[in-house]
Amino acid sequence: DLTSLAALIGGYLLGSVPFGLVITRALGLGDLRQIGSGNIGATNVLRTGHKGAALATLLLDSGKGAIAVLLARALFGEAEAELAGVAAFFGHCFPVWLRFQGGKGVATFLGTLIALAWPVGLVACASWLAAAAAFRISSLSALIAALVASGFAWFTGPAGLAIAASLMTAVVFWRHRPNIARILAGTEPKIGKKG
Ligand code: G3P
Repeated sequence: DLTSLAALIGGYLLGSVPFGLVITRALGLGDLRQIGSGNIGATNVLRTGHKGAALATLLLDSGKGAIAVLLARALFGEAEAELAGVAAFFGHCFPVWLRFQGGKGVATFLGTLIALAWPVGLVACASWLAAAAAFRISSLSALIAALVASGFAWFTGPAGLAIAASLMTAVVFWRHRPNIARILAGTEPKIGKKG
């Protein structure tokens, strides 16, 4: 129906704004695509050495997921909020502006989850932080956090949320294929290292 379509398109467009690229370009930090992993996310922005830019990228990339959810919830309802959040996540990973070559979705996944079901979002953030404290690898922490959050969402329900979390987790893993190969090879750089 029309409200679902509006949530889908609005969420996607919001999510497709690549804040990492926008911020690093505005600050003249160089071409993010030529730095580190080449990814447009906060982890790679940190490899420019500018911590503030990395934090801003993290907040804005997660914020756009949360805003998509909150807007759709206020305008339409809970089902549309879920659609908008997942659409924002897909927008970040596959933005039309970058010929669908976007990010890995971690920040937007976290922001979407916090707005959809804050306990699940909290579990995701806590898992990321715990894994990062233990291993100091951003990608590995994201993979662990996504799995834990999805499992927790199935435990708490509702099913729609668990399905949304699992779908996003599958895409997070898909987008981290090069990272997974590096983790297995023992060559994935630690957080903040240029790699
Ligand atoms: O947020 C993405 C992170 O999990 C990995 O980023 O740049 O190390 O591939 P990167």
